[in-house]
Amino acid sequence: MDRFVKGFIVMSIVYLGVSTILGLLMLAHQDLLALKFVHSHLNMLGWVSMMIYGVGYHILPRFMGRALYSNRIGEVQFYLANIALIAMLVFYTLNVYAPSGIYLTITVVSGVVEAFTVFLFFFNMLMTLLTKVEQPK
Ligand code: HEM
Ligand code: HEM
Repeated sequence: MDRFVKGFIVMSIVYLGVSTILGLLMLAHQDLLALKFVHSHLNMLGWVSMMIYGVGYHILPRFMGRALYSNRIGEVQFYLANIALIAMLVFYTLNVYAPSGIYLTITVVSGVVEAFTVFLFFFNMLMTLLTKVEQPK
């Protein structure tokens, strides 16, 4: 298994742990519902998407009997997606408790970078699955 693939799977499980603790805290303390976005995106972009990236990168090329189009794109996606997700959620939280233009700006920029990483996966996977493979003569 490639390092970045393992990285996606490990980080997805870490996000599940963190989001579950936050979910329980939100149940117990209603004022923490202000962080619902943090909980839902730890789950949806962290746990769910990263598990799908990891399993998808490992399995989908093998189903097609092909090599992944670009390991480099996968590696870049791994680092960018994690840094941007953590930055987006940390600065969203800071902006909830101490609203400031700079926190909001960093949250939005991180969100845009996170969305960009979605398209890195989209591109890498489609190039893997749809490009024609030269048949040996
Ligand atoms: C034991 C684990 C969990 C606990 C205790 C928990 C708790 C909560 C709580 C208290 C809320 C706020 C509900 C409200 O608005 O009143 C919430 C929202 C949400 N949770 Fe969880 N959660 C857990 C696991 C998960 C998982 C595994 C996922 C996704 C895979 C998830 C996805 C969401 C989403 C998307 C929302 C926002 C829903 C909405 O806007 O109505 N949660 N959760
Ligand atoms: C770069 C990627 C993403 C960004 C920037 C983003 C941003 C947002 C924003 C701004 C909201 C509204 C929050 C609010 O009402 O306060 C939201 C809600 C939501 N998003 Fe996303 N989202 C992203 C990806 C995703 C993905 C991939 C999923 C599912 C797989 C998802 C599921 C949800 C759900 C269930 C809600 C409603 C629950 C909530 O209010 O927290 N999002 N998202």
